[in-house]
Amino acid sequence: MTSSMNQPVPTGEQSSIPEMSEVVLEVRNLTKHFPVGSFFRPKTVKALNDVSFTISRGQVVALVGESGSGKSTTARLISRLMPPTSGEIILRGKNVLKTEPVHPSLSYRKEIQMIFQDPFGSLNPVHTIGHHIERPLAIHKMVRPSKSLERVHELLETVGLTPPDEAARKYPYQMSGGQRQRVAIARALAVEPEIILADEPISMLDVSIRMGVLNLMEQLKEERGIGFLYITHDLASARYIGDRTMVMYTGYVVEAAESRELMEQPAHPYTQMLMNAIPNPAGGLLRKKAEARGEIPSLTDLPPGCPFATRCPKVLEICKNVMPEKEYLKQDRDHWVRCHLYGSGQEPTPATIF
Ligand SMILES: Nc1ncnc2c1ncn2[C@@H]1O[C@H](COP(=O)(O)OP(=O)(O)OP(=O)(O)O)[C@@H](O)[C@H]1O
Ligand SMILES: [Mg+2]
Repeated sequence: MTSSMNQPVPTGEQSSIPEMSEVVLEVRNLTKHFPVGSFFRPKTVKALNDVSFTISRGQVVALVGESGSGKSTTARLISRLMPPTSGEIILRGKNVLKTEPVHPSLSYRKEIQMIFQDPFGSLNPVHTIGHHIERPLAIHKMVRPSKSLERVHELLETVGLTPPDEAARKYPYQMSGGQRQRVAIARALAVEPEIILADEPISMLDVSIRMGVLNLMEQLKEERGIGFLYITHDLASARYIGDRTMVMYTGYVVEAAESRELMEQPAHPYTQMLMNAIPNPAGGLLRKKAEARGEIPSLTDLPPGCPFATRCPKVLEICKNVMPEKEYLKQDRDHWVRCHLYGSGQEPTPATIF
């Protein structure tokens, strides 16, 4: 895919073609359980369970799932806004929870930046746009103070906010939602991060400006080799921008593969259900839609077996009692699924869109 954004990249910053195989961030068996309830009736919300993946230089990994499936928890753990119950986070080979167990180092906070769903909420209404971008430059000592304004202008230009001197003087309320999200991206870029965690960055924007923000992310990945964790409800945008897609349900990643492979051969019945939820004008009203049957189980009371068993149209007896292990369908596409339909000894059933 080619980017429609043609903003110049400041001299000296443009990287060569990204090395896709260079792993920058790895999370292993990330788990987050929140204690809730009262002293007499303690309960545990199992928000995230045994999640492992990598993000390489210049790779966009999309994380897709319904509300409450654990997407933001994943991003919050990686950005270290809260500690995991267990698991490991490895940045460029360094096991950060071991080497900096209590607070993330300044260098970790520089390398892993986060963009939130609500661009207005993440900007301070009493400060100018220029101030928002100058602050991280100063905290992380990215440029000499005398060069700070020049750098702010470069960053605003990079994200398509022109003329940059005018944009820098504005306040957040003087900008549209899409422009504010670009400011949030410029602020993240100010510290030249390796990874950006983008938590539903377009879901609050008008449809007409969503593509611009996605194309900007694509441009940053291609030109600067930034890796993204792109969190979304929407499989269509994951297909558009994600090199790899992971599908999450009740805190488990239930299927993962290269995005094109996942969209062409969705294996898990839940992924198939999400695929069918994408409006398809060609299918018209006659197309048989997947319906959400049954209830999503409570995260304080997950069943012993597959969490999707309560809604799955293809449920087997074993699904109700035994949690499926990861089964690889295609090693070369790194396509795996947690589903008993593809269990050991069984031939993978061709994926059917029901
Ligand atoms: N601090 C907390 N204490 C208790 N439960 C929590 C806490 N934070 C998150 N949860 C629960 O963990 C689960 C996962 O939440 P999370 O915000 O990660 O979901 P999500 O996939 O990002 O959903 P959405 O699409 O609505 O943003 C939810 O059931 C949520 O209520
Ligand atoms: Mg969320």
